[in-house]
Amino acid sequence: MAHMTREVAIFACSHRGGGNSDTAATLLARGVREAGAEARVLALRNYSVLACLACRACAGEKQSRCVLAAKDQAEELFGVLMAAPVVIFTSPIYFYALPSQCKTWVDRSQRFWEARRKGDPWVMALKDRPAYACFVAGQPTGQKLFDGARLTLKYFLVNFGLTLAEPLGLRGLDAANDLASDAGASALVLDLGREAGRRALEVQAGA
Ligand SMILES: Cc1cc2nc3c(=O)[nH]c(=O)nc-3n(C[C@H](O)[C@H](O)[C@H](O)COP(=O)(O)O)c2cc1C
Repeated sequence: MAHMTREVAIFACSHRGGGNSDTAATLLARGVREAGAEARVLALRNYSVLACLACRACAGEKQSRCVLAAKDQAEELFGVLMAAPVVIFTSPIYFYALPSQCKTWVDRSQRFWEARRKGDPWVMALKDRPAYACFVAGQPTGQKLFDGARLTLKYFLVNFGLTLAEPLGLRGLDAANDLASDAGASALVLDLGREAGRRALEVQAGA
């Protein structure tokens, strides 16, 4: 089992800085800290992540290494996922899905899926922990607006022992400051941060 860090990891997944999912990340971090836990925000756009080559090297029976591991920062980000007591994703919806950079990182986790399939001890030993998500979308309607992102995130995180709670989906937020100027939506995000902070303390107490 990877050494557990103290900080709740908040992954901000927008390709634009200073927008609604960055605002959500700041509110979530504040909520986590209000609950007495620690928080760290990571903006994915500041990390270089190459696309999976589908070479299947990670499917080999002996090991689940990625041939790109030393070439970018995907593994550094996976290290945070493996070690955090709780993780939170804040993301815009792009075409009913996660933004392409985030999805590129998700695809790179295939080696963890393969390791789990093979029952590799290091991956089976990852502690069960909670995960949360806050999605922001420009459109006010669309029954399935968050389904694509939710499902991708759920099946990505499960390989790290992380169980995704029902995401908070915020609609009708399009301009960069729309969340910041919406007190009701901001309060919901802050509350989610507090819940994540409380859970982090529980996970750490049981670690
Ligand atoms: C490439 C792209 C695709 C988008 N696709 C959708 C969409 O399918 N549905 C929707 O409601 N909003 C869509 N939007 C709007 C964003 O979800 C919205 O502007 C969101 O607030 C952006 O979050 P940010 O401020 O964190 O960047 C899209 C925006 C971009 C740039």
